Amino acid sequence: MILVTGGAGYIGSHTCIELHNAGHDFVVFDNFSNSSSESLNRVAKIIGKEIKLVEGDIRDSAALQQVFDNYDIESVIHFAGLKAVGESVEMPLEYYDNNIVGTLHLCEVMKKNNCKKIVFSSSATVYGDPHTTPIKEDFPLSATNPYGKSKLFIEEILRDLYISDNEWKIVLLRYFNPVGAHKSGLIGEDPNGIPNNLMPFIAQTAVGKREHLSVFGNDYDTHDGTGVRDYIHVIDLSMGHVKAIEKINSVEKVLTVNLGTGKGYSVLDMVQAFEKASGKEIPYKITPRRSGDIAKCFADPSYAKAVLNWEATRDVNEMCEDSWRWQVNNPNGYKND
Ligand code: NAD
Ligand code: UD1
Repeated sequence: MILVTGGAGYIGSHTCIELHNAGHDFVVFDNFSNSSSESLNRVAKIIGKEIKLVEGDIRDSAALQQVFDNYDIESVIHFAGLKAVGESVEMPLEYYDNNIVGTLHLCEVMKKNNCKKIVFSSSATVYGDPHTTPIKEDFPLSATNPYGKSKLFIEEILRDLYISDNEWKIVLLRYFNPVGAHKSGLIGEDPNGIPNNLMPFIAQTAVGKREHLSVFGNDYDTHDGTGVRDYIHVIDLSMGHVKAIEKINSVEKVLTVNLGTGKGYSVLDMVQAFEKASGKEIPYKITPRRSGDIAKCFADPSYAKAVLNWEATRDVNEMCEDSWRWQVNNPNGYKND
């Protein structure tokens, strides 16, 4: 049985489906701080099976212990965490507590129960402002905000854990920019309030919830001056987790892998692709750069192919079509108003 922390969230809910499709049994542990149980109802509908769920906080060791008492947990996919960069600058203590202290509690409970296999959700944010692209796993690491630092520190903690006890099997997955949604249109990304990230903002603009998109700067050193990112379909990303968990027994040392497509698209490329997928115009205005943003970020995905036998196959058109289907069917996300 696989324990999926944060399994009700955007990436976790999609991963639950791919775990099921690959024949793996799992239990979700989530405190619903940034999700709703409705996502899991929808997952249950998609896979035709009830979801095993324990509601709780990863900082609560007793609640985590309950999961190990009730299920035979062999490995953990650890998604649970707070993820908004701007918010992390406003609330650093909450971010360090939730992400770092939460992970410490999780690892302690795992150790106590002799469960030593973990796949961790890291982020391309740990590369800071890369000196060149595409980005390889051995590039220098840095972070400028508490969210990014929490990912860096957790990576360090997991590396130290391995040094202390080589029985641990640890996979650090560094995601690039997850977008898209399940084909059913039943589950997708449901940000609270005004979206910080590009794709949900574009989708909400297309559906008429936002007047226009602000394009944060058109004076970057990129093909059209707007920021370039490696957008990856959430289903491809989820499948990367399935590969990681299937590979984990043969992992030696700490395995660190980029999950990206290797292709970079600009903000205006994405606007265009979304207009094509939705048939809607996306009004936009060029505004000043967002502080902390970098010009270009995309992965070298060749190591993932070599060690996990995984590569992304879904293109930007499919990402936009699937995001649009989710958005148009659920203009208010999981809230039914
Ligand atoms: P999400 O917010 O949709 O999902 C996270 C889930 O964790 C939510 O269901 C939330 O309720 C739960 N959670 C948060 N704190 C918890 C706690 N203390 N105890 C129990 N549950 C808790 O986010 P997501 O986009 O699905 O991201 C999943 C993971 O991937 C996060 O760790 C995030 O930092 C990382 N990541 C995300 C992105 C991205 O762009 N979405 C990029 C890189 C890395
Ligand atoms: C953001 C986070 C990063 C995190 C990643 C994935 C910041 C500074 N960084 O990165 O830590 O790992 O999400 O979740 O928040 N853009 C606009 N208008 C918008 C929104 C975005 O022009 O309204 C542009 C940005 O300038 C960027 C691109 O779109 O060039 C993508 O932005 P976003 O989706 O926020 O992702 P990242 O900046 O890559």
